[in-house]
Amino acid sequence: MYILAIESSCDETAVAVVEDGRYVLSDAIASQIEMHTIYGGVVPEIASRKHVEAIYGLADRALQEAGITRAQIDAVAVTYGPGLIGALLVGVNFAKSAAYALGVPLIPVHHVRGHIAANYITYPELEPPFCCLCVSGGNSLIVDVRSYTEMELLGASRDDAAGECFDKVARVLGIGYPGGGPMDRLAQGGDNHKYPMPHAKVDGAPLDMSFSGLKTAALNLIHNSQQKGEALDRPSFAASFGRAVSDTLVPRTMLAAEQLGYGKVAVAGGVAANSRIRADLQAACEQRGYQVYLPELKLCGDNGAMIGCQGYYEYLAGTRGGWDLNAYANMDIGHPRLL
Ligand code: KG4
Repeated sequence: MYILAIESSCDETAVAVVEDGRYVLSDAIASQIEMHTIYGGVVPEIASRKHVEAIYGLADRALQEAGITRAQIDAVAVTYGPGLIGALLVGVNFAKSAAYALGVPLIPVHHVRGHIAANYITYPELEPPFCCLCVSGGNSLIVDVRSYTEMELLGASRDDAAGECFDKVARVLGIGYPGGGPMDRLAQGGDNHKYPMPHAKVDGAPLDMSFSGLKTAALNLIHNSQQKGEALDRPSFAASFGRAVSDTLVPRTMLAAEQLGYGKVAVAGGVAANSRIRADLQAACEQRGYQVYLPELKLCGDNGAMIGCQGYYEYLAGTRGGWDLNAYANMDIGHPRLL
């Protein structure tokens, strides 16, 4: 079964062709990072317009690289939330037109469910159930993945997402946008104990997280050192910050994994590329005898392949979108909205 998969929830337009859920035949991506770098963050209206410009050509490219024709497409999968509403609408409308014109089913896919599915591509043997830490620019979630399409949210950030935090701190450090990758590279060789960072807990909700205090403390540290004319040890600052983020995410994930008892832990989303989080999660899982799943780096960020993969399992479960399918900025991972 060939699925044409569309992703446009943020600042990457992506179209992929995926065969039988796990075989990626093509994964064409147009990044808008260069454009948003000028403003130090994603400008939603610009993102929508750039998606409109890129999407048609990318779909043609994805088909060409996959070596199949339009007539061979069996279904069209698309991210319909959560994300930037204008950006999502571009993908949803393109997918609806394509599915209608080709006379094939339309499959709506939850963006974070797509990130989780990146693990199925990297690990062909992986099957649910497992516990998954989902960390991206807009989401920090701990999810009980009971089956390919039955999931429950166990914990979430009450304020900023982990990726957003990396991006905001990196912007003030002046090391570029998006900041997670540059912060990760800067942290290499730094002393991660040099700068004490706060670790917030949410009263009565041990699996929930809060990053805004950490972000503010890190920004204050940068500003104070500038005001006092003191040189900030940037690698050690980045390493201390990265450790604080990981120390927030990994113990909570392990607590959830212990409660679930599946013995399998995965990570997903753009922040899953972080070397400290990957190493800490791996060590924590090895210590408990759990199997750990770390998606291939190129599949951590937004891509179309993950949407095609999750779209396949949604298709098998009977999920279909109508021609009136809408996009949603917010969406529960356990109960995506369907018409
Ligand atoms: O999943 P993604 O591509 O887009 C969303 O769905 O949000 O995630 C993007 C986020 C950005 O905040 C970026 O800074 C972060 O992932 N990121 C990282 C790393 N690489 C990307 N954060 C920490 N360490 C990294 N190596």
